[in-house]
Amino acid sequence: MPFSFRSMASMLSATILAASCTQQPAPQEEAAKPVAAGESTIQIDAANVLAEVQPTMYGIFFEDINFAADGGIYAEMVKNRSFEFTIPDIGWSQPQSDKFSMNDKSGFASIIKKQDGSVNPHFMRVTSKSASGYCLTNEGFRGMGVKEGAQYDLSIQVRVQSGSPKLKVELADEAGKSLGSAEIVPSGSDWKEYTASIVATGTAMKGKLNIWFDGESVTDVDMISMFPKDTWMGRPKGMRKDLVQLLYDLKPGFLRFPGGCIVEGRTLERRYQWKKTVGDIEDREVLVNRWNTEFSHRPTPDYYQSFGLGFFEYFQLSEDLGAEPLPILGCGMACQFNTGELVPMDELEPYIADALDLIEFANGAVTTKWGKLRAAMGHPEPFDMKYIGIGNEQWGPEYITRYLAFEKEIRAKYPDIIIVSGSGPFPDGEMFEYGWEELKKLNAQIVDEHYYRSPEWFLQNADRYDSYDKNGPKVFAGEYASQSVAIASPDNKNNWQCALSEAAFMTGLERNADVVYLTSYAPLFAHAEGWQWTPDLIWFNNLQSYGTANYYVQKLYSNNPGTHVLNTSIDGKPVIGQAGIYASTTKDESTGELILKVVNTNAAAHHVNLNVAGVAGLASTGNLQVLSNAHLEQINSFDEQSIQPVSSEVAVSGSDFSLDLQPYSMNVLRVKMN
Ligand code: AHR
Repeated sequence: MPFSFRSMASMLSATILAASCTQQPAPQEEAAKPVAAGESTIQIDAANVLAEVQPTMYGIFFEDINFAADGGIYAEMVKNRSFEFTIPDIGWSQPQSDKFSMNDKSGFASIIKKQDGSVNPHFMRVTSKSASGYCLTNEGFRGMGVKEGAQYDLSIQVRVQSGSPKLKVELADEAGKSLGSAEIVPSGSDWKEYTASIVATGTAMKGKLNIWFDGESVTDVDMISMFPKDTWMGRPKGMRKDLVQLLYDLKPGFLRFPGGCIVEGRTLERRYQWKKTVGDIEDREVLVNRWNTEFSHRPTPDYYQSFGLGFFEYFQLSEDLGAEPLPILGCGMACQFNTGELVPMDELEPYIADALDLIEFANGAVTTKWGKLRAAMGHPEPFDMKYIGIGNEQWGPEYITRYLAFEKEIRAKYPDIIIVSGSGPFPDGEMFEYGWEELKKLNAQIVDEHYYRSPEWFLQNADRYDSYDKNGPKVFAGEYASQSVAIASPDNKNNWQCALSEAAFMTGLERNADVVYLTSYAPLFAHAEGWQWTPDLIWFNNLQSYGTANYYVQKLYSNNPGTHVLNTSIDGKPVIGQAGIYASTTKDESTGELILKVVNTNAAAHHVNLNVAGVAGLASTGNLQVLSNAHLEQINSFDEQSIQPVSSEVAVSGSDFSLDLQPYSMNVLRVKMN
């Protein structure tokens, strides 16, 4: 079998099963009988600072998978707005007409492909034959989310070939009931953009856009686009507000973008090329999304990249979120799970130039070629990009050679840029060992690691970084997520068992903040009907969105990072999950607080005695946030988000006090130090 995401899934599920049969500890399934509460003592030495927590410690990773961009955060409602999908009328229909009849009374539509070399060469020619009109309908991304009272702004490029057409643009619900309309009267035989707004008179999860062409006429249309007026920051043609808000609430330290395997492409030709994602929207070349047909169990043949969320919008979003941009660029290697095509070393220069030019686009003076474009797009100030990632999940000597070529030129021109390299798709094994060994020899600055493993693996590896060389390259845990079934299985769930195991594991990331500089869960978003990969941090449909249990684990960490790691032990020993308890403590120098994170992976409550040394005393009360659920299989959903942190004030007596941890719980205590 050729190596593929599917073969990776079966290989890993065998490994994971073997591991979970032989190793301890694992969260115990709910017992029928009550389980006896345990007891542990956590010692914290507030005078013993082990490491600084980097401001980048808890970040996010955005990839256009699961309709994350088009159909997701990028609020465009029209699918295939410029007729550039491989089958150019995907998303469009003529419900009132017989497409296959030459005698249909209403008219017909043809796709025309310009031969002038333009990047988006198609447009539609509509021949309306009758006064009652010809109707063109766009189905949106699994429908269009329409909210009563909200305004929707449409734009369309039109030129009139003959007649005097009137266009009625109409929002309709699933059943075809009109939710409001507006009229456009185009004129002239040159392309012009027309706009119209509709305030919806009703709500629909799967609304659609109808465009009626009234009167006998021939009309050309292109770039038919519709956005809600109410976007993130009110930007026209901007981002979906609820989804960005969920990201904003995470207070992410960085934003990794655009992938993931999407960076590499299944072939080199179809790799992500940032230069094709900037400038005027209509000049951004539409590309088939690499996740389109990756999984036969979740085919999404209508998944393309319009790049309306391109690199300018990415930098702008990073700025909005207060997150450091961390772009990842292809290094001349197509995805090794697919073709693995390689660019010959003596032809790598344009790829390296892309990296150098991206730095100029982000940071260069407005007098430079790419800085000038950034300014023209509305951001003359530099974005102050500090990091760049070279390659995603590459492995083998081919990667190291290409990485080195990139590193040499980036270092020479931009010595202050921090370069992130990668150790391949797995957190162990020969590819991983080889990558790390070579990157260590090269004194790489930060190495990206990925782990999609079972909850048991996460618990067993909470001490993973205790043994890492503190003087070696720093770690970017760039993609991780606990898998309830197996990597790439469509049956994986964002259940509490997985989230709890991540919470326990993350104590180990935090305790080793002198090695681990950046971390991010993956993937970030999934459309409830358009997904290819699960689990995912945030789920949405056309109207709603919610954070999973995993989201709230991330949020508790990223909202409570602290600035310095304090020495923490359990029952006098380094934390390894003894008695199912995992812990990490930081202090926040700016607020003078001690921040304890303690995770109880037991089915029973657990009594924790806390002994804080190295402080004159603690305030008499602290704030405790608890994320818990009695059922490991529990998930959040659109209807019910039962797994959310609950905040309360707790009494703290002196520097020796205790906490009673709920079964299966993550706890964050913040208390002022005297
Ligand atoms: O997160 C989904 C995919 O998993 C990413 O694109 C890739 O880097 C990893 O294999």
